Amino acid sequence: MNKPIPVIAIDGPSASGKGTVAQRVATHLGFHYLDSGALYRIVALASQQAVIAWSDAEAVAMCAKQLSLRFENEQVWLNDKDVSEAIRSEAMGKGASQVAVHQALRQVLSSVQHNFRQAPGLVADGRDMGTVIFPDAVLKIFLTASTEVRAQRRYQQLLAKQQTADYQAILQDLLERDARDKNRASAPLLMAKDGILLETDHLSIVEAVDRVLENYQRFIQFSA
Ligand code: DC
Repeated sequence: MNKPIPVIAIDGPSASGKGTVAQRVATHLGFHYLDSGALYRIVALASQQAVIAWSDAEAVAMCAKQLSLRFENEQVWLNDKDVSEAIRSEAMGKGASQVAVHQALRQVLSSVQHNFRQAPGLVADGRDMGTVIFPDAVLKIFLTASTEVRAQRRYQQLLAKQQTADYQAILQDLLERDARDKNRASAPLLMAKDGILLETDHLSIVEAVDRVLENYQRFIQFSA
């Protein structure tokens, strides 16, 4: 029997560094990469452009169904426009967290995410990769860090991009997003029962990547 295409799920809260870790793991293994948060961000942007309220579950899901999307290397194209930068704003992060509460939207995006599962493998990051979208993932990492460390990292990132940054506002925003992502009824942010916790307060990106790769090697040895 053919073995299923392996998926490594990396879930965790905002600004935990999971995107960078997931991307590097994917590059190292030669796997495909899915940034599922980008999908929710794109829907937030497309809804805003179509003057649809983020709270309107039905209209947001309909908008998502009609999206014309293209992913190319690190770029995302929406209706033939490069929106890679636009979806990274703090406003779209907030919007993404708001549209993500709608079950109807999550349903629409479910098959989009499954389509990323291509040989030789996939590294997927988000909030519900290991719990809902890829429950048969061979490795489920829950990558996290304290709120203060995450706020500090986001603050430094904005400064590095020469953008204005207010540490207290960032911290407040993270607390709000965490609460919304954890407490929603549909696919809330939580560690999978068979997940592995990776606390990164005192880990560098390189160390976190190594830990994920070590765990994957262990899986390969056991399944050989
Ligand atoms: O990972 P991110 O910051 O780009 O995600 C933005 C928002 O999208 C996040 O606050 C919640 C939502 N999201 C989700 O609900 N499920 C996912 N798998 C990924 C993101």
